[in-house]
Amino acid sequence: MRHFLSLVDLTRAEIEHLLDLAIELKEEWKAGGNTRQLGGKTLGMVFQKPSLRTRVSFDMAMIHLGGQALFLSPNEIRLGERESVADVARVLSRYVDGIMARVFAHDDVVDLARYSAVPVINGLSDTSHPCQGMADLLTILEKHGRIAGIKITYVGDGNNVARTLMFGAAKLGAHVAIATPPQYAIEAQYVALAEQFAAESGGSVAVLTDPIAAVADSDVIYTDTWTSMGQEEEAASRRQVFPPYQVNQALLRGSGAKVIVMHCLPAHRGEEITDEVADGVHSVLFDQAENRLHAQKAILVELMA
Ligand code: CP
Ligand code: NVA
Repeated sequence: MRHFLSLVDLTRAEIEHLLDLAIELKEEWKAGGNTRQLGGKTLGMVFQKPSLRTRVSFDMAMIHLGGQALFLSPNEIRLGERESVADVARVLSRYVDGIMARVFAHDDVVDLARYSAVPVINGLSDTSHPCQGMADLLTILEKHGRIAGIKITYVGDGNNVARTLMFGAAKLGAHVAIATPPQYAIEAQYVALAEQFAAESGGSVAVLTDPIAAVADSDVIYTDTWTSMGQEEEAASRRQVFPPYQVNQALLRGSGAKVIVMHCLPAHRGEEITDEVADGVHSVLFDQAENRLHAQKAILVELMA
């Protein structure tokens, strides 16, 4: 592994190895602190969009591992505007040992990796959110004891988080169901790719438009915002379409008794998820957010130690 751009690029064994490492690093940290595997190393963090979890968890992960992170706000670098993506990669990689970037166009993070002399980590693009995906898989593994054979249902917008969950879960042998409004479905070519992964792993992928049918006997129900960063102008029209896809107490009734409810956060309470569910007994939202820290430590160690 030289860069970490999309779960599509990782083998099942590589994902499982990262999960094992994340569990080890989490245990080590809970037992008193991590060894300084990244002592003296620095991570440049380039942001084109806002963030709480990604920014703070990467910063803390570097500190816990003995290194340092440098936050570069959207106004500083102005990736591709003030300077080309290629030149940013060439220059930044002369100063730091790794780059984490949150971008709009996925091609920008791919280009950063192409022209960087140091590892590049995708901290969210319009297409995918693989760091979130690793934290999600870690959380599912902790809560259910396995990923292969369980049913993971995503309800809502067919976005970056949905695509990533679909790829990761399909690679690890889960039964994935995705329920979206027809006009916000995951693109057919990505579904076909996930179906290929599922055929290799013993999992399956089902694409639906009915959220009630989708959640039947689910072990995991996952949702995300109806309007992702960069789509703000569409917020009003999306609010007209998505209400039947709200994750609420009524929807949960059709799922398994041990179902866990997941959301990458930030949540728009009262829209894609109700308070009752977000704060209810099935919710694992904040364990999931914590796991960003542990999952990303594994990625950093793998790429930079
Ligand atoms: N889930 C997630 O990536 O959160 P932030 O946008 O706050 O980083
Ligand atoms: N789909 C959301 C995820 C935020 C972490 C977005 O891209 O805005």
